[in-house]
Amino acid sequence: MKLPSHFYKPLAIGAPEPIRELPVRPERMIHFFPPHNEKMRSKVPDMIKQVDVLLGNLEDAIPIDAKEAARAGFIEVAKDTDFGDTALWTRVNCLNSPWVLDDVTEVVSTIGHKLDVMMVPKVEGPWDIHYFDQLLAQLEARNDKIKKPILIHAILETAQGVKNVADIAAASPRMQGMSLGPADLAASRGMKTTRVGGGHPFYGVLQDPVETGERMLFQQDLWHYTVAKMVDACMSNGIRAFYGPFGDFKDDAACEAQFRNAFLQGCMGAWSLHPGQIEIAKRVFSPDVNEVLFAKRILESMPDGSGAVMIDGKMQDDATWKQAKVIVDLAKLVAKKDKELAAQYGL
Ligand code: GLV
Ligand code: MG
Repeated sequence: MKLPSHFYKPLAIGAPEPIRELPVRPERMIHFFPPHNEKMRSKVPDMIKQVDVLLGNLEDAIPIDAKEAARAGFIEVAKDTDFGDTALWTRVNCLNSPWVLDDVTEVVSTIGHKLDVMMVPKVEGPWDIHYFDQLLAQLEARNDKIKKPILIHAILETAQGVKNVADIAAASPRMQGMSLGPADLAASRGMKTTRVGGGHPFYGVLQDPVETGERMLFQQDLWHYTVAKMVDACMSNGIRAFYGPFGDFKDDAACEAQFRNAFLQGCMGAWSLHPGQIEIAKRVFSPDVNEVLFAKRILESMPDGSGAVMIDGKMQDDATWKQAKVIVDLAKLVAKKDKELAAQYGL
């Protein structure tokens, strides 16, 4: 086992010091773009004004014969663009693929200083993170433009990954967070679905027998258990949890409901795979104005966070004070980026 005193030591001579606190910025949507597509690349300067995180996708959904063009396109965009306060991420190919080594090597050695986070798919256990941790440190040490470590975001999308989720979250100080990958996870678990995220009409609870009329089937959230397990693993290690993709671009209402369940359960954001999902993620992952106003009243009525008071007939104590602080802290973060919401929050 690695000694605790070595946890925060750089893994290569000349690599930047590992961080102890994650950068604090809104991450409501991780917006995916296919970098081999020239038209999509040309939209990037406009796109970065609308999103919190822009991600160049090199993995699934990129055709095999476009893998190298996607990598080259991503590097070109990263070189030519000033991202301002929008984070730049990439999703590299998975560890057993023929492309991943060149993805990591070429991206880090050319534009590693502009890259905030590398998303790693199909992570099975902490050993996958250890491999990336070491490789990134070696490559960072060779590129003197890189002054801060590139962080790692794991996709939770295999049955084994879910089993090992707590160890993955704790595997390295580079861990920024994790996303649920419902499409690959469904396949890996042998779920009988054909969808990218969301619910299923047959997964539900049947109402007890009724005298008259039909018994209702109440649809349940297929992802409830995994999201909860992921949130606990992430939050107990000081990293962030995200819902991943929602593949039915025609069903904005279902996308919004899935994102909102994740938000209420503790997630920071979700992926947007289509421009229409950017607004959905913004709406869902920015705290609700009435909730923020109520949370502010809780904080104001208990200045030192202790004791008990009644507000509108509801008991408040140290624990609701802490919940209120989560909401107000998030609102302050969002307010820095969104002037309209800042005014509505009164922040
Ligand atoms: C995402 O990569 C997924 O498999 O859902
Ligand atoms: Mg996947």
